Amino acid sequence: MSTPSENASNETAGTGLKSAEPGSPRPESAVESALGNFRPLIRSLKGYSAPPQGEMIAKLNQNENPYDIPAEWKDDILESMRSLEWTRYPVYDPPDLRAKLAARLGVEPDRILLGNGSNQILYLLGTALLSPGDRVVISPPTFSLFDTAARIAHGTVIPVDQDPDFSIDGPKVLAASRNARLTFVCSPDNPTGHTVPPDFLEAVCRGTSGLVAWDEAYGEFWGETAVPLIERHPNLVILKTFSKAFGLAGLRLGYLIGHPSVVAELKKVNIPFNVNLMSNLTALKLLDRPEWVAEQVARILSERNRLSGALRSVPGITPFPSAANFILMRTPDGDAVYNGLRAEGILVRPTEAHPLLKNCLRVTVGKPDENEAFLAALHRVVKKVQGSKFKVQS
Ligand SMILES: Cc1ncc(COP(=O)(O)O)c(C=O)c1O
Repeated sequence: MSTPSENASNETAGTGLKSAEPGSPRPESAVESALGNFRPLIRSLKGYSAPPQGEMIAKLNQNENPYDIPAEWKDDILESMRSLEWTRYPVYDPPDLRAKLAARLGVEPDRILLGNGSNQILYLLGTALLSPGDRVVISPPTFSLFDTAARIAHGTVIPVDQDPDFSIDGPKVLAASRNARLTFVCSPDNPTGHTVPPDFLEAVCRGTSGLVAWDEAYGEFWGETAVPLIERHPNLVILKTFSKAFGLAGLRLGYLIGHPSVVAELKKVNIPFNVNLMSNLTALKLLDRPEWVAEQVARILSERNRLSGALRSVPGITPFPSAANFILMRTPDGDAVYNGLRAEGILVRPTEAHPLLKNCLRVTVGKPDENEAFLAALHRVVKKVQGSKFKVQS
């Protein structure tokens, strides 16, 4: 029989759990051993991160819509939520939501697949399509998740860099996509705000036996869509989201439009019940009020144009043209300007390391007072950064 003191030495204090027996692996090496089960690729990834959001004067880093839905609509939705049974799974692949979306888009409901944000659909594409070594064409600088989702799904990413003016390198993309399993095209592109002509998309669809994923997350701000092209190209899938123009980033709802047979295959891989009760109700509500969404888009566009003009007059800042709800700008020193703005309570987005994005930051169009606060801070920060650069050089 063991004495109390022997017991104590064999237990992790107060937990009742036995500590390591002599000869068993030390906790750190046990962790290492657990981590050894991960694919080396996963260990090498940096992973997505977003800075804490509290205490900011203006949060202009994630291309969100600054205009929340009216409080009465929220009350209606919450009232409906109250009457639902939260113990039950939501409706599977909600037919009412797909029907309403389909009517808005002018397509049949069986062309629509719903996702928990369009990010989830990106991962779904990778899982459903890619076998080890399958080629995936992307055009950097572009949305980083295309690369991440493809690599996690064992794809081999073939990057075809954009031209220095951020237009897509048409001939190279066409050549690379010919024998690719999947080609991503993003328009308007994130982070550049540049667009790709739908004619080019058709050429890619014709030239490849693979699937072409056209991401128009910001399409409502651009005013163009590739949806009419899906009738002609069964290998085209279009990704859209409720996170931007519809302002529902917090509820996570995205969708894909494609050929019914392609959609049916993708659905086999989709996560069941990935659209929760609240996202479903809220999306239905907004789809009944297209004029409200159009109004918010118009407000954001007018503010974007004003912000672009104002940025052009900040010494040292070069904004690039944008068809979306954000603006990419070149600064004298990306890190210093980012940190300076952050210290003033303004959160913008640093860009990926890419030679075309040297010293660039991306700013989301916010409400007028947020944009004013950003502009005032930017004037001060750039002046300071340029002053200190000048001192170092002289
Ligand atoms: C190009 C692009 N596609 C997709 C998404 C993700 O959208 P969701 O919120 O629907 O996952 C974003 C978000 O920033 C984006 O920029």
